[in-house]
Amino acid sequence: MEFFQVEPAYISKDGCRLIWKGIDEDDHDAIILSGEELEHLFELLSKDSTGKVELEDEFSTIWVNTDTTQFRLKEHKMLEVKTAILRKKILEYKKMPHEPKPIKIYAKEFFPSITIENDEAIEILNSIPDDKNKTAISESDFFRIISTRRSTRNFDTSRLVEQWKVDKILATADTAPTAGNFQGFEVFYIKNKEIKKRLVEAANNQPYVNAPIVLVFCKDPSRVKINFPPEILAKFSLQDATLAAAYSQLAASALGLSSIWIGMLDEEKVMQIIGTNLRPSSILCIGYPHQKRLPKSRRKLKDLIHVIE
Ligand SMILES: Cc1cc2nc3c(=O)[nH]c(=O)nc-3n(C[C@H](O)[C@H](O)[C@H](O)COP(=O)(O)O)c2cc1C
Repeated sequence: MEFFQVEPAYISKDGCRLIWKGIDEDDHDAIILSGEELEHLFELLSKDSTGKVELEDEFSTIWVNTDTTQFRLKEHKMLEVKTAILRKKILEYKKMPHEPKPIKIYAKEFFPSITIENDEAIEILNSIPDDKNKTAISESDFFRIISTRRSTRNFDTSRLVEQWKVDKILATADTAPTAGNFQGFEVFYIKNKEIKKRLVEAANNQPYVNAPIVLVFCKDPSRVKINFPPEILAKFSLQDATLAAAYSQLAASALGLSSIWIGMLDEEKVMQIIGTNLRPSSILCIGYPHQKRLPKSRRKLKDLIHVIE
């Protein structure tokens, strides 16, 4: 990783983003500094001093040494840059006022000011539940799982869905890719029986919405902290919520459950019923099916795939 440049922050005119680049075009690391952190770093560099800048997470630090400046970051490998290069770039950067600017969406960003706690989902996904039946379905055979999935609208309501399966389905939602990794969606796990019944009505009276497990996937564009127009953020959050629901649907299949995706819903009614100001994108209803059925057929691949040579 080579230090590359100093860029404006996304949303504020204070602070900055320090960018390192690897060999591949997509390979980059970014550290976002708040206005105060940048000020402190600038002070050290402009006076040719050495010293330490503590970042907001109270763990990560920037060590300005004579030769090399080290960024020792929480849960991230150390990043380095020659102090002379950093000094030149930071002094140049500070000379002019900056507007927050739209950015290219990168996969990896390091925010010292934000605690990232997504290890929880990975822990749940890797945990081994006590349930002996867990080996009934191989979770590793991805292609078998996707090629045998079939929606159901007829749930066996007498069979309870084990909590560890619900946990895995929810944790899987958290692993889906999202625009800029901002996770522009929220999931409402509806346990309340009355609310489930009311959701039936909000979903065009589709009775199977009253399923053993009901998950409402909502868009949250306000989480997507990128300086793009609102319509782009709305599109990103719709895609984020949709992908998360799709991941959960596949997780349900991998766990021997069936599901039905509900897109036909009255958004306002759903929002009112579950008490949120976030717009729903879909409801995923999950349970054991009364009967396992074969997957539905699809069109021929040659009609689907358009090869542009
Ligand atoms: C965007 C979308 C919206 C859908 N909305 C509904 C719905 O409101 N009600 C319903 O019964 N099924 C709904 N479905 C389920 C589809 O009808 C079902 O996935 C499709 O017939 C293919 O069947 P399969 O899932 O078994 O392959 C929806 C699916 C998608 C992807």
